[in-house]
Amino acid sequence: MNDLFISTTTFGASDKTPLNKLEQAGISYSLNPHKRKLLPEETAVLAKDSIGLIAGIEDLESLVRSSENIKLICRLGVGLENVPFDLCQEKNIKVSFTPDAVTPAIAELTISLMLAVARKLCVSDKNIRLGDWQRKLGVRIGGSTIGLIGFGRVGQMVAELLLSFKPKLVLVYDTYLNQEQVHKMEEKGLNIKPVSLDEMLKTADIVSLHVGLNDSTRNMISGQEMVIMKNDSILINTSRGGIVNEQDLYLALEKGDIGGAALDVFEEEPYNGPLTKLENVLLSPHQGSATKDCRAKMEMEAVDEVIRFIEGKPLKQEVSI
Ligand code: 8YV
Repeated sequence: MNDLFISTTTFGASDKTPLNKLEQAGISYSLNPHKRKLLPEETAVLAKDSIGLIAGIEDLESLVRSSENIKLICRLGVGLENVPFDLCQEKNIKVSFTPDAVTPAIAELTISLMLAVARKLCVSDKNIRLGDWQRKLGVRIGGSTIGLIGFGRVGQMVAELLLSFKPKLVLVYDTYLNQEQVHKMEEKGLNIKPVSLDEMLKTADIVSLHVGLNDSTRNMISGQEMVIMKNDSILINTSRGGIVNEQDLYLALEKGDIGGAALDVFEEEPYNGPLTKLENVLLSPHQGSATKDCRAKMEMEAVDEVIRFIEGKPLKQEVSI
């Protein structure tokens, strides 16, 4: 029996400091033996005797339901859709997360996906390997209208990074819009405008999603939204699978309702569905947070949180249930 189970596949892979810190604090731990996303039953078995869990994005319901020992879940990341909050509350399990550590890496990946799809880089790379040298005509972020759905941590940092590209206009849609952050970006020289979802879909050249997955965002971008979007527009999703309806996206890309897309997140991960057959969509394996610095920061923050918990100190990044 270990104090802590760590389910993320690459924990300590590029930097051993977080694991060393656990050892120095006398906290015993075990790591994900399968080195892939765990099934709910596997998590329930592997973590059942531990007091703490550093969790990835696997479904945690079976574990929380069956374990009598788990007292702390620390999500290594920002998304919390896999945490069964009602059950945690019932069983007096504390939940904590590392929301700020992931922001820069996800924002940078978002920009790189925008650029790659806008300049058709994946298609060119594939063609040139096949001996086909043809220059693809693309579009620039500069001069384009960019739509950001969700203006929280990541949305705001994407806007910040967009500044130097000088987009024509940045449209933001957020049901809990932070006006102060909009003004800050305006003061920095960004041409930014809060709009309705409908107005954004009609006018944006690139639409990028930065919201969590919940009942109000599931299938937020489905067939009818893609019909409203411009025929040459680009859709980017680095937030969560399930917010874009993948079947509808496949049809919209095939029919030309939208021009291109990039997905880093999927309804079912690992993804192996029909979008792999299309050239106008770029697919990446949920690697928004996968930079050395980001993983190290998240891991260190999670370890510090576990140590605080075990030493009976107040948590710093507790999610209020
Ligand atoms: C994963 C993410 O948590 O922050 C999030 O919510 O989606 C990612 O950072 C991470 O990849 C799980 O290890």
